Order: sequence, then C-alpha cells, then structure tokens
Amino acid sequence: PIDTTGLYAHAHFPMGASINTNLLRNNAVYTALVAKEFNSVTPENVMKMDATEPTQGNFNFGEADYLVSFAQQHGMRVHGHALVWYQALPGWVTSFNGDSTAWENMLKTHIQTEVAHFKGKVVSWDVVNEAIDEDGTLRNNIWLQHLGPDYVARSFQYARQADPDVLLFYNDYGHEYSAVKRAAILSLVTGMKNRGIPIDGIGMQMHTNTTVPDNAIAAAITAVANTGLKVHISELDIAVNPGNDQNMTFTPAIATAQSQKYQNLVKAYNALPAAQQFGITTWDVGDADSWIPPFYHRPDWPLPFDASYKRKDAWQGIVNGL
Ligand code: XIL
Repeated sequence: PIDTTGLYAHAHFPMGASINTNLLRNNAVYTALVAKEFNSVTPENVMKMDATEPTQGNFNFGEADYLVSFAQQHGMRVHGHALVWYQALPGWVTSFNGDSTAWENMLKTHIQTEVAHFKGKVVSWDVVNEAIDEDGTLRNNIWLQHLGPDYVARSFQYARQADPDVLLFYNDYGHEYSAVKRAAILSLVTGMKNRGIPIDGIGMQMHTNTTVPDNAIAAAITAVANTGLKVHISELDIAVNPGNDQNMTFTPAIATAQSQKYQNLVKAYNALPAAQQFGITTWDVGDADSWIPPFYHRPDWPLPFDASYKRKDAWQGIVNGL
C-alpha cells in the first residue's frame, strides 16, 4: 500500500527541509510536496546577509517574509539561517572600511535588526555558522580579523538582546568525519555555555555521504548531545558520489545503500532524549535542486526525493529509522 502520510507525521520531532523561495513561488508540485511532507522549514538562502542587508542599513526581508507566511499558513515551524557567516556576504561588507567599533556596530545592527524583524515568527536561529576551520582553529574570516575571537560569543549576546525567547544555535559541519573539528566545536560551545553566553543548541549540518561509517555518525550525534544542548540535524544530505565520478548513474544498489545510511542516521538521532531532539532538516528537497552537483561539479543524488519529487528508497529509510 502507498503510504500517504507525510514524513513529519512519522516522527515525534519536527522534520524539515531547506526551502528555495523561487521554487516555492513557481513550482506547484514542489510547494504541495513541502506542505505535505514537512512541518519545519529553513530558508536555503534568503535570510543570509547578502539577501537581507544588500546595502548597509537597507534591509530587505521580502523573500524571507514570503517563506514565513507560507509556513504560517501550513502550521510549519521556521528555523532562521544564518545571522553570521563568512560566505554570502554583500559586497559592502567585504569592502567595509572602519575601525573595530564601526565593525562591531555594523555586526550588532545586522543581527539585531534581523532578529527583531522575525521575532515571534521564527523559533530559532543559526546565530553563527561555520566559525571553526578544518584544523580546529577559529576560521580566519573577516569577522575574526576585525572583531577578534569573541565575536562568536558576542553575536549570541546580541541575538538574545533582540529576542529573549528565540532559540540560539551554533551551526557547523564535519562532526562525523573529523575528531579534531568536532572537539574544537564542542569546546567552543561548552566554553560559551560555561561562561553564561546564551546558547540553546548545536546544528550538525551533516552533509555526509555513503562512505562515512554508521558508527562514526552515531558517535558524533551522541558526543554532541552530551553537551546537554538541543541537537538539530540541520542540513542533512547523503551524497552517493564523493569520488566525483563524472559518469556515475544512480543504480538500485546505490539507492539501497543510501537508504540504509539514512535509516541508521535517523535511528541514532531517534535514540536521543526527546528534550534534545530539535529535529532533522534536509538540505533541499529533490535531487535536481541539491546544492551538491553545482558546488562540487559532479552528478549526485543526495536527497530523499528524486528530480520529479517522487519518494526515493531514502524516504523509506528515514521512516524506517524513526
Ligand atoms: C548553500 C546553498 O544551498 C546554495 O544555494 C548557495 O549557493 C550556497 O549556500 N552550508 C550552509 C548552507 O550552511 O548555507 C549552504 O547553502 C550549504 C553549506
């Protein structure tokens, strides 16, 4: 029998996806699928700094507001992404000329204007995204260069001042394949927590692939949960072509392996205490929309829905893991 129940109805925590507002506006099949399968959404790009503050002090929340109202109409949660990142910066930031006070005010204004705009509309924010580098040091980005290492903690304080109720997350990738990076992320986060910096959760992006062992993924999820903070699998996709084979095709055997990987990951997450299960969000919906092929210049099929928005074996794997 065909299971007509949406993904989220199978789970006791929210199930979400990152949403492309161009597709949401223009593709009725996509829009209906999103409403049916998910009860949480993250904007893929439209809450990033280049979208929301394209010129200094000139805020543009139109696309993000469109997503928020879609979510409200369908009873879905909105997770905000991302206030402070080193990518998706508007040109005026990369060429910003000012002393450390001017930089500080510019960052604070950005965070607080955006958080205040969405107060009561988003339940949570990725406050800082990808601040740790592969070697476990703070990433040498413009924020670190102009504001010093405590820009991460101050960003959380600024967000909290603008909204006392919204949940604040530190979001990053690599927990499941790099012990060095994971340790650095956990030390950053627990350091903030112990100093009384407001932080509610950790986003594990989980851009992973079928060659990463199940036990490494499960161990990473457990280690992150051991902080006591909420855990969001925030950008899940499971690539099947990490070797960049330009001639690869998506065979039934590959579909089965991917489905198994999704199932075991979801099973590991499902075992966490309910109070720490913020939810699982896939990064994009259908394989044709995935950021992976254009970013890595290769064919890939990382998502639970195919290019026609039909459920793949991976969809069933997720349900089986719940
Ligand atoms: C990606 C989007 O999916 C792309 O559309 C965009 O061109 C670049 O950013 N980690 C993140 C996300 O935190 O914001 C990124 O999203 C993917 C990697």
